[in-house]
Amino acid sequence: MKREQGLVILSILALVALEMMVGGSQAAVGMPPESAPLIRHFYKVHNTCANVEPFVRHQVQLIWANDKTVAPKLIKLLYADCMVNGCDASILLDGPNTEKASPKARGLAAFVLIDKIKQVLEARCPGAVSCADILNIAARDAVYLSGGPSYPVFLGRRDGLESNAAWVDFPSPSMSWESSLAYFESKGLDLQDMVTLLGAHMMGRVRCSNILDRLYNFNNTGKPDPSMEASTLTYLRAECPQKVRLGQPNPLINLNPNNPSHSFTNSYYSRVLENKSVLGVDQQLIYGEDTHDLSDEYAAGLLDFKLGFAFSMSRMGGLKVLTGTKGQIRLNCRMVNK
Ligand SMILES: *[C@@H]1O[C@H](CO)[C@@H](O)[C@H](O)[C@H]1NC(C)=O
Ligand SMILES: *[C@@H]1O[C@H](CO)[C@@H](O)[C@H](O)[C@H]1NC(C)=O
Repeated sequence: MKREQGLVILSILALVALEMMVGGSQAAVGMPPESAPLIRHFYKVHNTCANVEPFVRHQVQLIWANDKTVAPKLIKLLYADCMVNGCDASILLDGPNTEKASPKARGLAAFVLIDKIKQVLEARCPGAVSCADILNIAARDAVYLSGGPSYPVFLGRRDGLESNAAWVDFPSPSMSWESSLAYFESKGLDLQDMVTLLGAHMMGRVRCSNILDRLYNFNNTGKPDPSMEASTLTYLRAECPQKVRLGQPNPLINLNPNNPSHSFTNSYYSRVLENKSVLGVDQQLIYGEDTHDLSDEYAAGLLDFKLGFAFSMSRMGGLKVLTGTKGQIRLNCRMVNK
């Protein structure tokens, strides 16, 4: 696809989708079929918690005032929930063999924020609002506070009854873009969603352990990844020494060194194009023709990226949802109801 062509198609798709969402249409364009029963003002229509959105926004604002990494934390938590067995809040369940307990889910955060929002909602609208909806609304609000798009969140998800560590199947941070695409497609998302959602690496942090192979021993060659631009390699090696002293924690570094304030930006894509990505999976975007074109488009246009991001977050938030009488409305997001 040529760059200009991609630009036009993306913009039209995103605009149409957002317009239909704003219009309250139940059949949002491009959403996976499972999301069809979700509706714009679920808690207003059912008169169970008309003000759920202002209540959630207020709590997210309070946290964001002290912690500017709340957006990347919530996006990651939403991704971890939706990609593993659908957006059913199964990632929030505590227990010995839950998704949360999987070593692959290590590093997730913002569970306490979800608990806080849930407490407020249980005081205002007891037993009404699902943890899965709370997570979707909170992620949207944090993105907006960080300078990202505001977009309507379709609601009416219910919470799952099960969670299993064995279900957690996240791709590794050094995986090729082809394997990463196969993963996204297996969940019902597409190439545009993948390139766009990887853009969440515009903010947030990562442990050095995830990139040591790229810095010192790429593909068991004993050398760094030859695709990494030289000054980036020097910078990252200084941040992430090859050996951490025993008992010292693994350093946390910014995924996007250009963005220490964790605000919404398209500079992630400029870094991809300049061979300055921190993670291997991000740098791989320049190798595919379509992934390269879309990276070009986003690097050149913040508005395009904002529209695309809103669109793909909505699509991800609609994956394999439980609605109607399936699942339950959990009273405590960490455990199924007794
Ligand atoms: C890694 O090494 C293997 C075997 O030497 C090779 O086939 C493969 O292409 C290498 N991968 C990359 C990304 O360089
Ligand atoms: C980035 O790396 C690729 C090959 O890995 C190279 O073709 C390209 O010229 C590099 N771009 C820049 C801006 O250095």
